[in-house]
Amino acid sequence: MKLTLVFILITYTFCGIIKGNDVEECEYEEYDTLTTAFSNETLNRPLFHFTPKFGWMNDPNGMWIDSSVESTKTYHLYFQYNPRDTVWGMPLLWGHAITTNLVDWEEQKPAFGPDDGKAGAYSGSCFIDDENKSGWFEGESNNNLIAAYTYNDKDWVETQYLYFSDDGDTFYKIKEAFNPVVEHDNEDFVKQFRDPQVVKYLNGTRKGYLMSVAKSQEYKIAFYLARTDFTSWEEQNNLELEGFLGFQYECPNLAHLKNPNKQKEPYTENSYWVLFISINPGSITGGSSTWYLFGHFDDQDGNLTYVPKTKYPAPLDYGKDFYAMQIFYEVRNETQLQEGAESVSGLAWASNWQYTGSVPTDPWRSSMSLPRKVSIGYFNSSPETNILYLKSEPFIERSKSDIFTFPTFSDSLYSNSLKGGESTSLTIDSTESNIQGAIEFKITIKVLNTDDFDNYNPGHLDFYFKGHKDPEEYLRFGYEQGATAFYLDRSHSKVPWVNENPYFSDKISLNVMPKVTENPVDKQIEYDVHGFIDRNIIELFFNEGYQTSTNTFFFTGENFINDVEIKSDHGNFTVKFKAGQITKKNIINRFVFLN
Ligand SMILES: *[C@@H]1O[C@H](CO)[C@@H](O)[C@H](O)[C@H]1NC(C)=O
Ligand SMILES: *[C@@H]1O[C@H](CO)[C@@H](O)[C@H](O)[C@H]1NC(C)=O
Ligand SMILES: *[C@@H]1O[C@H](CO)[C@@H](O)[C@H](O)[C@H]1NC(C)=O
Ligand SMILES: *[C@@H]1O[C@H](CO)[C@@H](O)[C@H](O)[C@H]1NC(C)=O
Ligand SMILES: *[C@@H]1O[C@H](CO)[C@@H](O)[C@H](O)[C@H]1NC(C)=O
Repeated sequence: MKLTLVFILITYTFCGIIKGNDVEECEYEEYDTLTTAFSNETLNRPLFHFTPKFGWMNDPNGMWIDSSVESTKTYHLYFQYNPRDTVWGMPLLWGHAITTNLVDWEEQKPAFGPDDGKAGAYSGSCFIDDENKSGWFEGESNNNLIAAYTYNDKDWVETQYLYFSDDGDTFYKIKEAFNPVVEHDNEDFVKQFRDPQVVKYLNGTRKGYLMSVAKSQEYKIAFYLARTDFTSWEEQNNLELEGFLGFQYECPNLAHLKNPNKQKEPYTENSYWVLFISINPGSITGGSSTWYLFGHFDDQDGNLTYVPKTKYPAPLDYGKDFYAMQIFYEVRNETQLQEGAESVSGLAWASNWQYTGSVPTDPWRSSMSLPRKVSIGYFNSSPETNILYLKSEPFIERSKSDIFTFPTFSDSLYSNSLKGGESTSLTIDSTESNIQGAIEFKITIKVLNTDDFDNYNPGHLDFYFKGHKDPEEYLRFGYEQGATAFYLDRSHSKVPWVNENPYFSDKISLNVMPKVTENPVDKQIEYDVHGFIDRNIIELFFNEGYQTSTNTFFFTGENFINDVEIKSDHGNFTVKFKAGQITKKNIINRFVFLN
């Protein structure tokens, strides 16, 4: 990599047409000319995961689906963005990107930012005022977009603001005193009160727009209901979780989901409200991670009260790099709002505050996770117990992309039994131009289980995903029968940072319960793994997505994975391995300026 300095000169100008007397386009101080030194592009930029062209990115924000025209259904993603540096800092803007298939992302100009260069437009959500309750809209109702976000002012006081837009590109504010719409009522806590998410709430005659906000260091989630318009939000009862989950709560997100097996005691309700909470710092998985609860809203003397069904939150992802999960807002009809949706989709920030500020990427920092669809299912958390759980499936519209080619999985690269001491070496793609660092794979592992403990010799299986230019760089992934656990070892890299950074845990493990098969043959137990590798990120979905693990990793430039060695030092496995390179047309591995 050559490291001369490139000076980027950008002026963000947010001024434009004025919409009417009471309304103005979000007004910003024109930032001083941004003069930031960025080096040349590092070659580990993911291909189908969103990354900003340059600068710093953290939480996903304001995600919504524009489905006013089905054929041009567009997904909008906003994100916490500092274009002036590759570390977090003020002013923080809402960056913006769109996609029609969740793999080809197009970055747009930032949507808005704070009026003050020392302030931040912090995380939040978008919702759609399809009834024009606000009275702010003139056009097509499916695009009546309102952004709810936290204004972190120069004194670090946090309040909740609303801006609006009819296209998702240009946002407006009401000229008259209006914002903030929600403030903390206790001055001791005004600096830690953030990340509003708004959903449409409909339960019998209870109707309105429900906002969840984190009272971060009080370990509470506050709820506010707007019944008639969006200027008055009535505080409902706070949710206070018992016990210690970590130092701060952030980014609450609510989703109303159908319960697919309501006959199962004690989960007999028709639907649940899933509440996602992101914990940082101090999450037990190390640093930052996303958790969730199932519950419902009770009406207590006219106040909504979130009543958890599951006493303790469950992790949504067991990896090191999955934070601030946010759901796409979709317009839903009354039946779906009352009964809950079959599934919702969303994505997370694929990084961890423990080390995010120094990861070896340039001139940008951080990618988003792959979008995923989550739905309620039942999970065998032990051979005897079946608990309520969220299931995640990768959510990409692969057939809608004409620049990516995905593997078809018609043939296995390997399908055989593998006994202790055996190994096999595979090449995923023999066409050099297809080796771009992006792979999709599916593994099925059958293990001969035993209850003959006198002769117990639990098996061990490893997959070495090797760089095609330098096989000494590899990701090691595998399974240990005695531990009922999978592991990922991301330490085998020649990038010095990987081994020097004390928080970039090099080995990550995950206990996975085997799938319950209809006809267990010969005491065999089975695991499925569906994986995606995209240059510096690996995402693993175990057993139809009941457990997932998202982790970044870093190899030297262009040493993309294409070879796999499967080894067993002892045990008796049947392994099926299918994999293919995901290829992209017209890759540009060079520095690209944002217009
Ligand atoms: C980036 O690479 C180009 C082409 O190799 C080179 O001319 C330029 O000096 C490099 N700039 C930086 C910042 O390394
Ligand atoms: C939305 O409400 C405002 C205020 O009542 C009204 O002026 C406007 O025409 C409405 N928009 C539509 C599309 O009906
Ligand atoms: C509703 O909750 C708010 C906030 O906790 C509280 O101030 C208010 O008194 C409650 N109202 C009722 C009717 O319980
Ligand atoms: C709807 O409201 C009723 C009455 O308060 C409550 O029992 C029920 O749990 C609520 N439904 C959900 C999904 O929260
Ligand atoms: C609401 O949407 C669901 C799912 O798309 C559909 O099955 C149902 O018919 C719709 N109901 C109404 C009243 O439009």
